Amino acid sequence: MKINKICCIGAGYVGGPTMAVIAQKCPDIKVTVVDVNATRIAAWNDTDLNKLPVFEPGLDQVVEEARGRNLFFSTDVEKAIDEADMIFISVNTPTKTYGKGKGMAADLKYIELCARQIAEVSTTNKIVVEKSTLPVRTASAIKNILDHTGNGVEFQILSNPEFLAEGTAVEDLLAPDRVLIGGDTSEKGQQAIQALVDVYANWVPEERILTTNVWSSELSKLTANAFLAQRVSSINSMSAICEKTGADVNEVAKAIGMDSRIGAKFLKSSVGFGGSCFQKDILNLVYIAKTYGLNEVADYWEQVIVMNDYQKNRFSDNIVSTLYNTVSGKKIAFLGWAFKKDTNDTRESAAIQVADNLLNEQAQIEVYDPKVTEERIYADLDYLNTRSEEENRTLLKVKSNPYDACKDAHAIAVLTEWDEFKTYDWQRIYDNMLKPAFVFDGRGILDTKALKKIGFVCYSIGKG
Ligand code: NAI
Repeated sequence: MKINKICCIGAGYVGGPTMAVIAQKCPDIKVTVVDVNATRIAAWNDTDLNKLPVFEPGLDQVVEEARGRNLFFSTDVEKAIDEADMIFISVNTPTKTYGKGKGMAADLKYIELCARQIAEVSTTNKIVVEKSTLPVRTASAIKNILDHTGNGVEFQILSNPEFLAEGTAVEDLLAPDRVLIGGDTSEKGQQAIQALVDVYANWVPEERILTTNVWSSELSKLTANAFLAQRVSSINSMSAICEKTGADVNEVAKAIGMDSRIGAKFLKSSVGFGGSCFQKDILNLVYIAKTYGLNEVADYWEQVIVMNDYQKNRFSDNIVSTLYNTVSGKKIAFLGWAFKKDTNDTRESAAIQVADNLLNEQAQIEVYDPKVTEERIYADLDYLNTRSEEENRTLLKVKSNPYDACKDAHAIAVLTEWDEFKTYDWQRIYDNMLKPAFVFDGRGILDTKALKKIGFVCYSIGKG
């Protein structure tokens, strides 16, 4: 079965870059990415590539090459579904904010809407691919919806979770560690798997394309995120011990990371992990475990989140206690708001929680981030509902220049590991600050030795 037309529902951080790369690598496949959000689609179609809704290094070139040739962005969801042989579902699956499983389970309403729309519109057989991260066994729910349309169309459901990391999405898509495709064990299921394998085989070596049953594939994505987040929480738990004992968390991380059984990656201690996936996917896993009555399993994974919240609060608590137990009326400059460098995504960013805690202490915050907009920052704060929108705008200001943000500040907090922060004229920053001038490096990126020489008082996570 040769795929000629692909439709992807959801033009977000995953759908956009993933489909851009498929289109670039498979010029003979027409790829249409659709979304209900017309502003987002307009931004994907903007001739100014700086206005793409997702910032990822290298993405602009990929889009430039394929857009208009075999890559299209549209709001006409029905047409794209009808035309396609293969439909990727890449819509958001946030944590439920209401009803049963509130604050834990994945909200699958967008997934269900997609399935119903596919069922309604389709007149020819389709392969439906779960690209979104979904609870294990979602494929059977989708299949149920699709199979009860009564119009004789046959559907095969595949699970093809996405392992890209924001900030390195294009790199990860071009050279993935592995591509995972789960499908039905029946003959038709295997044919559908092969059709998707053939798409990826255009640029991914076959030995890196792994095929499994649907349930293993769905569960593997949640497992991968749980394991990754667990490593961060594990090293962060050690950072607290380091600070009490005089051990240095970077030295500890290096010492254990050189053990080939442990490995060096994901051992960077920080103010805490953020991003749209880790917390949501672990909560989802915890909920699944609880649903099956596996309470010890649920508690085990929930601790990864508890540790992450602790780390964020520990960081802001430390700022307050170091600044003589009060930050009321004091200006604190934030360098960074994104949840990590090289992305404009701020979902679940540690900066949000740290800011909220400090605003509760009546601090004045001025934020500089190279890629995050002012609207986004206020939206993140307003979403918490801790105080009125007016108060958020009075207490927190957004600056387009880091030197302005740091001017007359009592302290600087580094919340994102943007490379440019390392290259600033730190003497100039110091000269324009109130003394003693404090730096709280939540990402361990600054040369604290050099900063101390200038006169800064430095705090770096996990250094006693
Ligand atoms: P996103 O929120 O950036 O994008 C989702 C898009 O789907 C939105 O633009 C929304 O308007 C659209 N949408 C929702 N319902 C729709 C419908 N019925 N019809 C048409 N469009 C609809 O989300 P993101 O970050 O791209 O995540 C998508 C999925 O991929 C999630 O399940 C996430 O867990 C998963 N994922 C995310 C990764 C990440 O780094 N962001 C990495 C790997 C997986």
